[in-house]
Formats: sequence, structure tokens, C-alpha cells
Amino acid sequence: MIKKGIILAGGHGTRMSPLTKAVNKQLLPIYDKPLIYYPLSILMLAGIKDILIIVNKGQLSQFQKVLQNGKRFGIKIKYIEQLSPRGLPDAFILGEKFIGKDKVALVLGDNFFYGQSLTLKLKKCINLNSGCKILVHPVNNPELYGVATVNEKNKVISLKEKPKKSKSNLAITGLYFFDNKVIEYSKSLKPSKRKELEIVDLLNKYRKKNKLNAQFLGRGGAWLDTGSIEDFYKTSAFVSALENRQGLKIACLEEIALNYNWINKREIIQAIKFYGKCVYSSYLKKIIE
Ligand code: DAU
Repeated sequence: MIKKGIILAGGHGTRMSPLTKAVNKQLLPIYDKPLIYYPLSILMLAGIKDILIIVNKGQLSQFQKVLQNGKRFGIKIKYIEQLSPRGLPDAFILGEKFIGKDKVALVLGDNFFYGQSLTLKLKKCINLNSGCKILVHPVNNPELYGVATVNEKNKVISLKEKPKKSKSNLAITGLYFFDNKVIEYSKSLKPSKRKELEIVDLLNKYRKKNKLNAQFLGRGGAWLDTGSIEDFYKTSAFVSALENRQGLKIACLEEIALNYNWINKREIIQAIKFYGKCVYSSYLKKIIE
């Protein structure tokens, strides 16, 4: 069972400059809450309460102001700074002490997931015994992502990062589940031409040992990557449409924690005080009434 999770929330966010000159991308709004609420909600829905957030050097206090130590959501949040964006597998080198002898999930701070039976699928993934599991989803523009081909037993048979041309339209989303070997494997990686440790090189180590499995998000699921300004607006519109139609919030962290009995009414009342008078607080009031 995976009980620990890492959110990689650094990066320069250059594609979104000047918005990201003073504020980290993961703290910019997706409709009514900061982007980081969404990947954090994914780890929480999976049942993960022990979380490490990797942030850019100098931006730690920005994140702490919003998420604090996680007590508000009945979880434990630790933070660590990444000096420069050395690549996704750097998460497991920086996070070595946090991971210890355990297995670990990784979610990229700019990934958005939503969908039918998502929680059930996440619970399946955290039951990992050994090896690695990745979440895959078809897309129209595979050249923008890591791409996989998968056999009928859901074993990943090939992988490529941002291929110029791809026969497969199956993107590798930014949600990964690893056994403890991930630390050793990450340490053995060499930087690529663009001077980063590459996630595909790490996943290939598992694939070569026949230990890389795919979980499909499925047709009822949505996966959006918020890499560009345009993506931010599209994802915001998606959240706004769903929330206003259903009257239910996506990624309300306190609501998830309350449903899992990690917190009670008292913490929700404290959260309302923390947020002050706003729409998010009105929603919190509604769920405890
Ligand atoms: O979104 C899914 C895609 O994410 C995968 O399909 C690709 O295989 C994977 O490489 C990654 O591609 P991106 O081009 O989207 O990665 P990007 O460099 O934009 O980083 C993703 C997030 O991780 C972003 O929020 C910044 C953060 N990050 C990235 C790096 C390289 C860090 O915090 N530290 C880093 O060193």
C-alpha cells in the first residue's frame, strides 16, 4: 500500500511569463482555487496523508501561506526546495529521506484529473506491490507529452518523451506510483541533452524489468495539463461549468478530509475563519450544515 506522495511544484513556468514572474504557476487560479489544490486532492482521494511538496528555491513561504502544514485537511505536509529544475526524477533524490523505505506516488503540480470512478482507480493504484504504475489517457496531440504503447495485459511495451511523430495517442499523465527502487533508479540516471533527468529514462528502467504497468483513466475521465495560459482558461472554464451546474466543488480539500473522517466540523469552522468571507467559505458552511 502506498502511503506517501510527492507533488512536484517547482519549475520556472516560463511559458506563462509574466504571470509567473512573482508567483509560482501552481499558485495561480484554476477558477476558484489555486492550481495546487487539484493535484493535492488527487493524492488525498487516493488516501495518501503523508505529503512532500517540492517547490522552487525562494518560493516556500508562498506555498506555506496557502497550505500550511496540512493539519487543516487532516494530513501532514512537508516542503523541500529544488535549487533548479533538474527534471522530474529529481523528486526522488530530493525526497529520499521523506520516502525512507516506503513506496511513493508522484503527481505533477500542474496536472488536473476529474472523472467517473476516479477514486476507485486511485485506490487500485496505491495497492501496488512492486514495480511502477502510470496513469494513461488518449489525447489528440501526443507529441506534447510522454507517450506509451500498452499491450492487452496493460504492460507498457514502449515509451517516448514528446515524439515528433507517434503511432500511439496514449499520453502518460503526470501521476505515477512507484516501489522503493525508484530512489536507486533515479540516482543512477544521467542528465539528457537538455540537461534534465528524464522521467521516461526512469520509467524505462521498470519497463526493461517488465515491471511497468498502465492504468487507464477511461473514457469517463478528464485529464488536463495546465502548461500554457490557454490551458489555464480552458481548465478554469471546465471547473466553473461543472461546479456551477452541480453545486459541488471539485478539489475542495476540506470536504475530502471530512468525508474520510480525517477532520471534523471543528476544523471546518477553523478553515472558514482562515479563508474569511468568500465563496469557498460559503461552500464549507453548506457542507457542515
Ligand atoms: O503532464 C504530463 C507530462 O509531464 C508527461 O506526459 C511527460 O512525460 C512529462 O515529462 C511532463 O512533461 P512536461 O513538459 O509537462 O513537464 P514540465 O517540465 O512542464 O514539468 C511538469 C511540472 O513539474 C511543472 O509543474 C513543473 C514541475 N517541475 C518540473 C521539472 C522539470 C519541477 O517542479 N521540477 C523540475 O525539475
